[in-house]
Amino acid sequence: MATMESLIGLVNRIQRACTVLGDYGGADNNAFSSLWEALPSVAVVGGQSSGKSSVLESIVGRDFLPRGSGIVTRRPLVLQLHQVEGDAQDYAEFLHMPGRKLTDFALVRKEIQDETDRLTGKTKQISPVPIHLSIYSPKEGQQESIVQDIENMVRSYIEKPNCIILAISPANQDIATSDAIKIAREVDPSGERTFGVLTKLDLMDKGTNALDVLEGRSYRLQHPWVGIVNRSQADINRNVDMIFSRRKEREYFATSPEYGHLAHKMGSEYLAKLLSQYLESVIRAQIPSIISLINKTIEELEAEMDRIGRPISMDAGAQLYTILDLCRAFERIFKEHLDGGRAGGDR
Ligand code: GDP
Ligand code: NA
Ligand code: MG
Repeated sequence: MATMESLIGLVNRIQRACTVLGDYGGADNNAFSSLWEALPSVAVVGGQSSGKSSVLESIVGRDFLPRGSGIVTRRPLVLQLHQVEGDAQDYAEFLHMPGRKLTDFALVRKEIQDETDRLTGKTKQISPVPIHLSIYSPKEGQQESIVQDIENMVRSYIEKPNCIILAISPANQDIATSDAIKIAREVDPSGERTFGVLTKLDLMDKGTNALDVLEGRSYRLQHPWVGIVNRSQADINRNVDMIFSRRKEREYFATSPEYGHLAHKMGSEYLAKLLSQYLESVIRAQIPSIISLINKTIEELEAEMDRIGRPISMDAGAQLYTILDLCRAFERIFKEHLDGGRAGGDR
C-alpha cells in the first residue's frame, strides 16, 4: 500500500505541475485549474496567541502536509490581524517590507504574488517558506475595505469543500467566544472537515477541566477533538526542543487525573496521525476524478498536437509534447497508487 509520504509527495508534484501547466495557454478555467481545485488544502484558523504557530510547527515539522497549504497557492500566507488605537485608515504591512503601509487590496494581492515569485523564481515551484502579512485596523474607525477584502479572501479559501480546517482554540478561554469555532461553524456547519484543537490545557485554572470540549459536548464535530500541550513561552526562551516537549506532552496526558482515560487520543502526535489519515482518505477518494481530469487533458493536448503538428524542434509543439509526457506520467503514477491501494487490501 502506498505510504502517506509518497501520496503527499505525489500531491506536491501534481500541484507543482499544475502551476506550470496552468500557465500554458493562459486559460484560467482549463482542466488544470479543476485538477488544482480537486486537491486538498489545509487552513489553520484561530484567535491571536491561540497556539496556531505552535501547532503548525509541531505538525509541519514532520513534512506530511501538502506544501501548497496556506492561503496563497504556492507559499503559505501567515496572516495576523491587529486592532490599534485611534481612527486612522486600516492598512496592511508585510514583514519583508517593514514600514510600508499598504491601503490598497489590489497591491496586497500583487505583492503576495510577486513575493512568491521572488522566492520560487520562474519555475513556479511551491515553497514552504511563509509570507507574513499583518493587518492593522483602528478600534474607532469603521471597518474599511482592506480588512473586509482580506477576510473575503480567507473565507473564499476555507469555504472550498476540499479545505481542511484546523480550528485552534485555547483551553484557558471560553469556547463560546472562540474565533476558530465561530468561523468553522460558518463555513463548515456539519463539522465534517473541521478538526477541533484545544491548546493550553496546562494553563487552565486549578479545579477546572476541558472535558466538555474534548468529549464533544460543548461543540460537536465529526472528528474527535484533540487536546494539546505546546511549548510555553518559557520553554521557547530556554530552547526546549521538539522531542523533549513531545515527551513532556505525552507525560502530561498519561499522568493527568482528568485526561488520563483519553491519553491515547490526545497530543500533537495523535493530531498529526489523525490529520494524515484523513488527508490520505481524501486523496484516495479523489483519485478516480483526478485520473479522469488527466485523461481529459491528454485528449485536449492530443487534439492540439494534431492541429499544430508533431514537434520537430523547441517550438510550441515541443512544449506540448513535454506536457503530454507529464500527463501520461501522472496517469501512470496515479494508477499505480490506485492498484497499490487495492493490492494492499483483501487481494
Ligand atoms: P498564535 O498567535 O496563534 O500563532 O500562537 P503561538 O503559537 O505563537 O502561541 C502564543 C504563545 O502561547 C506562545 O508564547 C506559546 O509558547 C504559548 N503557547 C501556545 N500553546 C501553548 C500551550 O499549549 N501551553 C502553554 N503553556 N503555552 C502555549
Ligand atoms: Na480562538
Ligand atoms: Mg503565530
